[in-house]
This record gives sequence, C-alpha cells and structure tokens, in this order.
Amino acid sequence: MTWSNRDALKFAYWVPNVSGGLVISNIEQRTSWTIDYNRELARIAEKAGFDYALSQIRFTAGYGAEYQHESVSFSHALAAATTKLTVIAAILPGPWNPTLAAKQIATINHLTNGRIAVNVVSGWFRGEFKAIGEHWLDHDERYRRSEEFIRALRGIWTQDNFTFRGDFYRFDNYSLKPKPIDPQPEIFQGGSSRAARDMAARVSDWYFTNGNTPEGLAKQVDDIREKAKENGHAVKIGVNAFAIVRETEEEARAVLNEIVEKANPEAVNAFGHEVKNAGKASPEGEGNWAKSSFEDLVQYNDGFRSNLIGTPRQVAERIVALKRAGADLILLGFLHFQEEVAYFGEHVIPLVRELEQQEATAAIAAE
Ligand SMILES: Cc1cc2nc3c(=O)[nH]c(=O)nc-3n(C[C@H](O)[C@H](O)[C@H](O)COP(=O)(O)O)c2cc1C
Repeated sequence: MTWSNRDALKFAYWVPNVSGGLVISNIEQRTSWTIDYNRELARIAEKAGFDYALSQIRFTAGYGAEYQHESVSFSHALAAATTKLTVIAAILPGPWNPTLAAKQIATINHLTNGRIAVNVVSGWFRGEFKAIGEHWLDHDERYRRSEEFIRALRGIWTQDNFTFRGDFYRFDNYSLKPKPIDPQPEIFQGGSSRAARDMAARVSDWYFTNGNTPEGLAKQVDDIREKAKENGHAVKIGVNAFAIVRETEEEARAVLNEIVEKANPEAVNAFGHEVKNAGKASPEGEGNWAKSSFEDLVQYNDGFRSNLIGTPRQVAERIVALKRAGADLILLGFLHFQEEVAYFGEHVIPLVRELEQQEATAAIAAE
C-alpha cells in the first residue's frame, strides 16, 4: 500500500474504567474511574477528534486497579453520552461465552447506531482466573479459544442457521435476531506473541500491540500482514502509547522522570513477574512483555516505548513515523485524562493531519 491511498490515522484513548490510572506510580493523577468523569471525558474526546474509546476488562485488583467497572455496560453508557465516538468493549472468553457476547453487542449496536466494537482479550493474569474460578489454559490454548470465540461471533452476526463445531464452542442451526446493523461491530484483539499474531492474520479486524519503536512495530506489522495476505485476510494495526505532551521537551521528560521515580517497585516487579509468567507458555517467547524493562512496566502496556513524550511537533512527527511503520491507529493513555485529551486534540491532531497531507502529496508526486 502506498502512502497516498492510506486512510487518515485513527485515534483511540484508554477509558479509565478502573481505578489508579494507567501507570503503576504514586505520582498525582487527575483522572477518575467514575462514570461522571468518564462521560465528560468521552464528550471531550469526540470533540477533540478521537474515533474510539477502549475500555478494559478486569475482574479483580492486581497491581493497581482496585476498583473496576465492567466494560460492556460501561462502554454502552459512554456511547449513550456521545454522538460520534465508537466504544470498544473488552471481552474475556471464559467469563463470556460467544452466545451472550453476540447477543449483548448486537443489542448495543442497535441502541447506538453501530457505535460499538469489541476487544477480545485472551488473559494474562493467572491470579484473576483463580479468584473467579476460571480454568487457566496454556498460552496458545488461550488463543485457540479466542479464535473460536471470534469465529463464532462473526458467524452469529452474519449467518442464519449458524452451525459451528469447535473444541470450545458449538452451535447448531442458530439464527440471531436481530443481527447487528451496519457498520458491523469491528473485532479487535491484543498481543505480541506468535499465537496472537497468527490469530490476527486469520480472523481479527484489528490487532492492538504494546508500545514500541517504529522499527519494532514495523517488524510485527510486516510479519502479520504477510501472513494475513497468505490467508486472504486484511488486518489493521493499533499501537499503544502513553502520551506526555508539554510546551517544552524538558517539561515532558520531567513528568516521565517523576512517574518512574514515584513508581511502586514492589507492584511493578510483581506485575512484571505475572506478565512474564503468562507469556512463558508462548513457545517462541515473544509475548507482549517479553522484552519489557522496569521503566516500561510502569505503564501497563509499554506505552513509554512509543516515545510520544515531548512537544506537540515532536509527538506529531513520531506519530507519523509510527504510521510509516504500519500503524493505522494510535491508542493513547494520559496522566490527567480530561485536560490532556483536550490538549492533544487542539495541539497534536491538527499537526498530524498536516504531516499526513504533506506525505500524501509527496507520495503522489513521486508516483
Ligand atoms: C491494547 C491492549 C488492550 C488489552 N486489554 C486487556 C484487558 O482489558 N483485559 C485483559 O485481561 N487483557 C488485556 N490485554 C491483554 C491481551 O489480551 C493479551 O492477553 C496480552 O497482550 C498477552 O499477549 P501475548 O500473546 O503477547 O502474550 C490487552 C492487550 C493490549 C495490547
């Protein structure tokens, strides 16, 4: 694909539907997990030019996130408070089965005129599974189940008399009524491991990955897109980033330093132990947090690695570099969500649009 026929980058933000923000640090965070704060944030975000709002699914506290609102109901409330934003509700196979998920999301699709999508997560937190009595499958088995889950969702949403014989799920002549209206709910997934990429290359509409450099991202994207092509499938890529945008680079760096200095080492190390353990059964050892340092782990999804830390221009240029590496969407976390989402919409997104336009013009001239 050349630059000239690529869509404008999409922007998503992490919905703070769990307490404690997005960094494992005692730094002050003017972010709240309440519904009132989140409704206002969703309205600010759609006005700022954000396309999507991604909620998290957690059933227990881990290393932070002491309180957690459930993602599907919370997403619906945010869609109801807005008019353009598409909400992405995280769903965990196991607690959810595809029958309930398909029905629930189809109904919300009708209630919101198609502004609901799902993020099918595969699980990394063994303690959480144990607490809620869920069987802990090996890494690649978790993905085998997620893939059947996604195939079942799509089948139920698009076919009458849907019949499916999987190892985890079975359907016999099932017809969901009503089916979702267009736009059909998009299916996102997360990961970095071989199993995660292969699933994306077969069934998902979108692949979310942890924060990364443009070079690291490009490697994953090339790998996934090549495999997807072999499968006759198209998949779009979203990359995580924790943005710290300030008038000067020094101010932005100072905020990062303070976040890391005030990190809670015990909690960060315990989180690191858990996620590395979760990835162990991924045979090739390339799971999401396989290469994460202590500093990376202070942000749950390696968001500092994308380096969106600096002035609006520096950040806009790095975002466009991520697009060049293959990103279709930038997923963003912030320290003080409401004010920083507004600032990002005012100062960064317009610069990204300018740079995208310049690249497209240059690409057309070169063709
Ligand atoms: C952007 C993003 C969002 C995620 N959201 C959740 C979530 O809400 N709940 C959850 O349990 N796991 C979540 N995950 C974890 C993934 O589903 C997956 O278990 C994890 O990335 C491990 O991947 P691996 O296959 O690379 O080891 C998320 C991952 C990413 C990249």
